[in-house]
Amino acid sequence: MGALAEWLAGTQASLAIQDMLWIVPTVQTVHILAMSVVMSSMFMIGLRILNLAGGYHTMTEAARRFLPWMWWALAVNLITGLVLIIGEPWRTLNNPTFWLKMALLAVAVAAAAGFERTLRRDAGFWERRPGDRKTVRVLVATNFLLWCCVIVAGRWIAYTDVPPP
Ligand code: HEM
Repeated sequence: MGALAEWLAGTQASLAIQDMLWIVPTVQTVHILAMSVVMSSMFMIGLRILNLAGGYHTMTEAARRFLPWMWWALAVNLITGLVLIIGEPWRTLNNPTFWLKMALLAVAVAAAAGFERTLRRDAGFWERRPGDRKTVRVLVATNFLLWCCVIVAGRWIAYTDVPPP
C-alpha cells in the first residue's frame, strides 16, 4: 500500500487537494453530515423493527422512506472518503484503523442490503411483529453497534500512528 500511497500523493489531484487548504475540512464536514444521515435512517428503521417508533407505517413503507436516504448518503460518504484518501493517501492507505473501518463498513452495508432483499422477498416476515422475536432484537442491536464502531474507527483514523511517507 505504501507504493500506492506514494504514487497517489504525487498525482495532480492530490497536489491540488493538498494546496487548497479549504478542501479537506470542507469535505470532512460533508462526510460527517452524510454519516449522520446514514445513522439516522438506520436508527429509524431499527426502531420501527423493534416497534419503538413509526408503528403507523408498514415495514415496507418505513424502508421505502428511509433506505433511499441511507444509500444516497453512503454514496456521498464514498465520494468524500475518496477525496480524503486522494488528498492524504499516507494517512489512510497505510493505516490499520482505516482498513478496520472499511471492513466493518462492508459488513454493515451487506447487512443493510440483506435486510432490503428479505423485505422484498417476504414483506410479511417483517410485519408479523418482528420486535417480539429475540433474534430480531439481537440483530437490530448488533447492527446499531456495528454502525457505531464504523464511526469510532472513522474518528480513530486520525489518532493511529502511521509510518511517515
Ligand atoms: C463509504 C465509504 C467511506 C470511505 C471511503 C470513508 C473514508 C474516510 C476517510 C478517508 C476519512 C478521513 C480520515 C482522516 O484522515 O482522519 C474518514 C473519516 C471519517 N469517516 Fe469515513 N468513509 C466512508 C464511510 C463512512 C461512513 C458510512 C461513516 C459513518 C457511518 C464514516 C465515518 C467517519 C468518521 C466519523 C470520520 C472522522 C471524521 C473526522 O473526524 O473528521 N465514514 N472516512
